Amino acid sequence: MRSITLQVDLAERSYPIIIGAGLLKDEALLQQCIGSGQLMVVSNETIAPLYLDSLLNKMPNADSVILPDGEQFKQLATVEHVFEALLNQRHNRTTTLLALGGGVVGDMTGFAAACYQRGVKFIQVPTTLLAQVDSSVGGKTGVNHTLGKNMIGAFHQPVAVLIDTDTLSSLPTREYQAGLAEVIKYGLLCDADFFIWLEQNMPALIARDQAALQYAIARSCENKAKVVAADEREGGIRAILNLGHTFGHAIETATEYKAWLHGEAVGFGMIMALDLSMRLGLIDASGLERTIALIAAAGLPVSAPANLPAADVILGLMGMDKKVLDGNLRLVLLRAIGDAFVSNDFDADILKQTLQHYL
Ligand code: NAD
Ligand code: GLY
Repeated sequence: MRSITLQVDLAERSYPIIIGAGLLKDEALLQQCIGSGQLMVVSNETIAPLYLDSLLNKMPNADSVILPDGEQFKQLATVEHVFEALLNQRHNRTTTLLALGGGVVGDMTGFAAACYQRGVKFIQVPTTLLAQVDSSVGGKTGVNHTLGKNMIGAFHQPVAVLIDTDTLSSLPTREYQAGLAEVIKYGLLCDADFFIWLEQNMPALIARDQAALQYAIARSCENKAKVVAADEREGGIRAILNLGHTFGHAIETATEYKAWLHGEAVGFGMIMALDLSMRLGLIDASGLERTIALIAAAGLPVSAPANLPAADVILGLMGMDKKVLDGNLRLVLLRAIGDAFVSNDFDADILKQTLQHYL
């Protein structure tokens, strides 16, 4: 199967997204993307044993640093290890960092690249489905703070995104399905035809069929690239990429990130966003029913986790989201499948009805 190349159009910060099976074995492609300068590969203790050696075999001059695995390590102290490795190995301003891993490694490597010597190049090699369709594209980088997720960060675009779909073969099922929530998100947001394609092809995606996967990843990245090109720094339209996230983040916080993976929370959050859109008279019941059916077909939860606090508590947690501006809660709503917009103009009682219905 041939690889697909897309472009993120951001003038002098434009870059390619290359999607295909076996890209990490393609020495010529790696050389072309990386060149012959200094390279620091950043990975973690789970992914490194699977993919790092074969990558380093093709780039014998590269250095590497292995971080601990887990969202709890996505913090400034971990990024310090990357700076230390760069300084110890005397990397200069022309160095390139390569993120080999999921969204956690990608966000931290991008942030390290944004800061090291006031900014060096970096390449994303995402190895989870979530990272391949979302976090590796668009230049949001950063770490968590004990007082808030992703609160310390920078916009810093990669110079290339290399998506080797073969890496998904080792991804645990639950992580894979969590990534499918972000794929469904693009159909809901801005691509009704893709939503229909997903309804027809979810069994092939669940079976990790290579052709279906390559198509779904490319179409997702294409949609994300368009939104990012239109609004790189989230002054407006980019906020639609957060469909379901305000609901999802509140559930993740209420359950101390223990009940669900991020994609699972986003999937359920999207159901709540559509339910609210229906109650506000924006979409009809069939749009909500089709979404619930597709999320269930992806193997994702369609009912709330056990022992959630009351709807009012969840509402309070939603008020702490980054999308709150001047005290106004802003949510991504739908006018139809494939037509999302951001609004703070909704009746709070109707929002409570949605929360009470699902929680
Ligand atoms: P993750 O990076 O924690 O990866 C999930 C797990 O899978 C980890 O244990 C990881 O080691 C393992 N793993 C990764 N690739 C593997 C492979 N090929 N085979 C076997 N195991 C593998 O989680 P994620 O879901 O990729 O990313 C979540 C993070 O992404 C969050 O921190 C979130 O804030 C961030 N994010 C960022 C953006 C953005 O725009 N920057 C967007 C969405 C999410
Ligand atoms: N995942 C949200 C964004 O990239 O803007």
